[in-house]
Amino acid sequence: MSDTRPTVVVTRKLPSAVEDAIASRYDARFNRTDVALTAEQMTNVLRTTDIVLCTVTDKIRGDLFDSRVKTKLLANFGVGVNHIDRDAARRAGVMISNTPDVLTDDTADIALALILMTMRRMGEGERHLRSGAWSGWRPTHLMGRSPHGKTLGIIGYGRIGRAVARQAHAALGMHIIYYAPRDVRIDDPSTAGPPDAEQVASVDALVARADVVSLHCPSTPETHHLINAQRLAMMSPTSYLVNTARGDIVDEYALTASLRDRQIAGAGLDVYEWEPTVVAELRELENVVLLPHMGSGTIETRTAMGMRALANMDAFVAGQRLPDLVEF
Ligand code: DGY
Repeated sequence: MSDTRPTVVVTRKLPSAVEDAIASRYDARFNRTDVALTAEQMTNVLRTTDIVLCTVTDKIRGDLFDSRVKTKLLANFGVGVNHIDRDAARRAGVMISNTPDVLTDDTADIALALILMTMRRMGEGERHLRSGAWSGWRPTHLMGRSPHGKTLGIIGYGRIGRAVARQAHAALGMHIIYYAPRDVRIDDPSTAGPPDAEQVASVDALVARADVVSLHCPSTPETHHLINAQRLAMMSPTSYLVNTARGDIVDEYALTASLRDRQIAGAGLDVYEWEPTVVAELRELENVVLLPHMGSGTIETRTAMGMRALANMDAFVAGQRLPDLVEF
């Protein structure tokens, strides 16, 4: 007897609890190799499958949404959807959902870790010890800078930006300034930033004042290379940049030059302009901490993200409004 349930392709390996839940309700195909689909494979999937559970490594370009597309829902595993040509999806009648809320705290934790790792030179320290070069404690060895009493400038004051603000204020005693292009809508007061956080009028004003700049805005045409050579030059030589949002918000070559020339003191990155490729010279620099896009990477959160994608699939099949419909 043939399976009449909706067809789903899951483009990357997911936590087993999520794969089991999907398999119990859908006619599902899983990616056992866990290698990102090629454009040709994705074209084929879009032409043959009702729902695609995709993620950030799937570059779903406009030309893939041709007249033969069968897919009606891209249930994205993750918040950011900049890897999907949203205009082309809309024209092709394909809905997109994402997985907000569930990854806020874990992603904020990684931003906080990067603030500490860069300011306290932890990456350098670990490499130093592992190399066998450590000769023992000495008063001036690997001196970093203290975050306490310093100013953290947050660009993008959504859920994650505000969580970083709360944590950095409470745990590290940082003063918060932020830039948000529109009014910040807060439905739940427990997700607000610290009461004395100060809104600044422009990105330029923020980068000129902050001891640490942390990025929490989406990748859009407006935010592409928001941090460029000009803005890096406005930052102080004792300041740091942290990026847990999307790589292309920073001009990676300009950042590399700025770190090399000590125009800024350091950077902590979890995302890259050409992931998984990272500018070779950047990898050679001591004053940068480089993590492999692991902001939401806990078993709890990755499972919750999968279940959230599944809830959107279920709503779609039931003909209900998607709880996390990406409006565009
Ligand atoms: C997100 O949710 O945007 C994460 O970076 C994974 O895509």
